Amino acid sequence: MRFGVLTGGGDCPGLNAVIRAVVRKGVDVHGDEIVGFRDGWRGPLEGEAEPLTIEATRGILPRGGTILGTSRTNPFKRDDGPQRIAANLVELGLDGLIAIGGEDTLGAANRLHSEHGVNVLGVPKTIDNDIGATDVTFGFDTALQVATEAIDRLHTTAESHHRVMVVEVMGRHAGWIALYSGVAGGADVILVPEQPFDIGDVCKLIERRHSRGRFFSIVVVAEGAVPKRGTMELADGETDEFGHVRLGGIGQRLEVEIEQRTGFETRAVVLGHVQRGGTPTAYDRVLATRFGVAAIDAAHEGRWGMMPALRGTAIELVELGEAVAELRTVSPQEFAFAEAFLG
Ligand code: F6P
Repeated sequence: MRFGVLTGGGDCPGLNAVIRAVVRKGVDVHGDEIVGFRDGWRGPLEGEAEPLTIEATRGILPRGGTILGTSRTNPFKRDDGPQRIAANLVELGLDGLIAIGGEDTLGAANRLHSEHGVNVLGVPKTIDNDIGATDVTFGFDTALQVATEAIDRLHTTAESHHRVMVVEVMGRHAGWIALYSGVAGGADVILVPEQPFDIGDVCKLIERRHSRGRFFSIVVVAEGAVPKRGTMELADGETDEFGHVRLGGIGQRLEVEIEQRTGFETRAVVLGHVQRGGTPTAYDRVLATRFGVAAIDAAHEGRWGMMPALRGTAIELVELGEAVAELRTVSPQEFAFAEAFLG
């Protein structure tokens, strides 16, 4: 059989491990032919594909990014997008398509399958860890490791200078990176998008630390964290083709606000795309490989409209519709264990 593969949305460590697994299992075990589409949905829209042989995927397991390139192209924002994709799959003699992506890419895959009958299945990636129906997405563990290492480094300099360090991490509307890196790095304040914060309370926590003789603090803030209504103004960002606002900047706002309100010297660090780059952790390599193997097996069985998911320790196939129905965000119960360590 012949299948296409694409990687869409923001890149993350482990994408190449999925591509490699799809090709290795597909070619070696099933005797399939695999082609790679360039730059997310732009590839199938424009019919831009290249053969993916075992030779072409050698050595890519530890490499970050994606050898296929990626983009935030939305096929539903292009004239006849779904029809063009369906026609290009036929033209290229493909039996179906494996779309590796996050909320947006998988949302498009789900609609292409359910509304247009395109043979497509998904693989859940994202450092944000916010895809429904799977306990974990690959890429998250690596981003968490990078953020934790950064917090460890900031700890030592914060302590030497008696400063407040604000560390802004990614995660879009989910606080997983902030919560887990904050706990792993021993942060004193953790701000997540799911729980609007009061800047007055943040400052009180920091002041309480000082009154107890701890003259430095680490504040981990998710880029999507929001102040309680009327407590602090934030600037609006631009939106992309999927309607997502470009986040970032809350760290700098907090730096100014905390310094003004407490009088303590404060510095902000934005970790940004550093969290998405570089080599995947062993955990992400293994999870990505398991997803890739499950995806090509599912494609071979014609399980279109599905997605491999991690449930507990097992890989299971779930409906794409279920996976994209709702973002998996941090509930108050999931945050609660961190509270004992704050302030
Ligand atoms: O979804 C992954 C992610 O890194 C988010 O955490 C972040 O908000 C967004 O992508 C950044 O997107 P871009 O790379 O397009 O700036």
